[in-house]
Amino acid sequence: MTAPVAISLTVNGERVDTHVLPRLNLADFLREQLSLTGTHVGCEHGVCGACTVRVNGDIVRACLLLAVQTENATVETIEGLSDSGEIADLQAAFRERNALQCGYCTPGMLMAAQDILAQDLDADRDQIREHLSGNYCRCTGYHAIVDAVEATAKARKELRR
Ligand code: FES
Ligand code: FES
Repeated sequence: MTAPVAISLTVNGERVDTHVLPRLNLADFLREQLSLTGTHVGCEHGVCGACTVRVNGDIVRACLLLAVQTENATVETIEGLSDSGEIADLQAAFRERNALQCGYCTPGMLMAAQDILAQDLDADRDQIREHLSGNYCRCTGYHAIVDAVEATAKARKELRR
């Protein structure tokens, strides 16, 4: 039996010192050991985007990363972004435009959407679609999601003026 490995990292602003099995992926670590079940697991092969989280500021697919690879990293999940208020406007835009139905894709979609909003508030619909193209949604047809992201970009730009 493989022995657990000690890891230390920061998750949603909190220091975490724990032990993980070497083959445990980050998505399962977050869900099973830290009870952060907002990170969803769909394909487990890096295709659907349901498990999208931020590691050291970049969005990654948590099913493709081993928990041990996040030693000393800063990890942010949908719970962290939601609790901090960072995406409150984006969440409201999703609700207002019915950009979610079953909600399974939504945490990963919000993480990816916030990523492009942080990079470029001038992104057009094609660029938004391209940025979200690795996040699959089986329910909405994407149109309302793009509407919500576009509206949030516009509102954030207005706030900067
Ligand atoms: Fe990670 Fe699908 S569960 S990309
Ligand atoms: Fe159901 Fe996107 S809202 S998969």
